[in-house]
Amino acid sequence: MNTVSFEIKEDMIGLLTLNRPEAANAFSTELLSDLNNVIDQVEHLTDLRVLILTGSGNKAFCAGADLKERASMNEKETVQAVRRIKQTLSRIEALPLPTLAAINGAAFGGGLELALACDLRYATEHAKMGLTETSLGIIPGAGGTQRLSRLIGIGKAKALIFTAKRLTSTEAQTMGLLEGVFTHQEFFPRILAVAQAISKNGPIAIRQAKKAIALGFDTDLHTGLQIEELCYLATIPTQDRLEGLAAFKEKRHPHYQGK
Ligand code: COA
Repeated sequence: MNTVSFEIKEDMIGLLTLNRPEAANAFSTELLSDLNNVIDQVEHLTDLRVLILTGSGNKAFCAGADLKERASMNEKETVQAVRRIKQTLSRIEALPLPTLAAINGAAFGGGLELALACDLRYATEHAKMGLTETSLGIIPGAGGTQRLSRLIGIGKAKALIFTAKRLTSTEAQTMGLLEGVFTHQEFFPRILAVAQAISKNGPIAIRQAKKAIALGFDTDLHTGLQIEELCYLATIPTQDRLEGLAAFKEKRHPHYQGK
């Protein structure tokens, strides 16, 4: 059985599920291989509008590195395993479409790093999360030290990483780590509603907006504004732009085709 499943829902919304509930959906070698296969698939699905990433069961989103597997690795194998997780999460971050982490339970270490590589993060009210690596004598190695400080600020990131603190969803939201916290019952409907709100907008526009924000974030304002202009230019010759204008004039909802 695959340790990662992928299905396409209505409105071209992709749902990727880490499927090792018996091991808190931890990143085993097999799961990383399956995850990369799904990423290959998603990269080729140019019609996909949004990708939701979640974990199976209601206890864990992802518990990070598989610590049982890790215990049997020598130093060289450990270095390779950490690099593999880092490269996989960088591939997710680089996907051209919006990605939503649906944090359905515990997200620790690499599990939270996975969520940090996504564009948006939503959690259930019972979820817990943190970069716990220093409590294991290591440091976040899949982007956590870099992405967390960029997201919530360097002081808060240092405090969380140095203390290995496990946050509740409410604490994480207060720190700016999450876009929303939902009750267990309303969790998936609310995540789907966010995905649908994105999927009804111009898909080329969404991808260009993601690109402009991502490329502009780590640069100076002047360069960022030039990047924005280039990304805007990519929307000019599209049928979607004309459809947006026509729908406005005709007082109807636009039907974007990503062309
Ligand atoms: N790697 C491998 N197996 C893991 C795991 C991990 N990172 N995290 C949990 N598991 C396994 C447990 O060993 C257990 O397996 P078992 O039933 O064979 O003993 C199973 O998943 C369920 O975990 P358990 O701890 O019994 O469930 P829980 O709901 O009480 O707690 C977690 C779940 C995820 C909160 C807890 O297991 C945990 O804190 N894990 C470590 C997370 C972490 O620090 N990751 C950082 C890695 S760098």
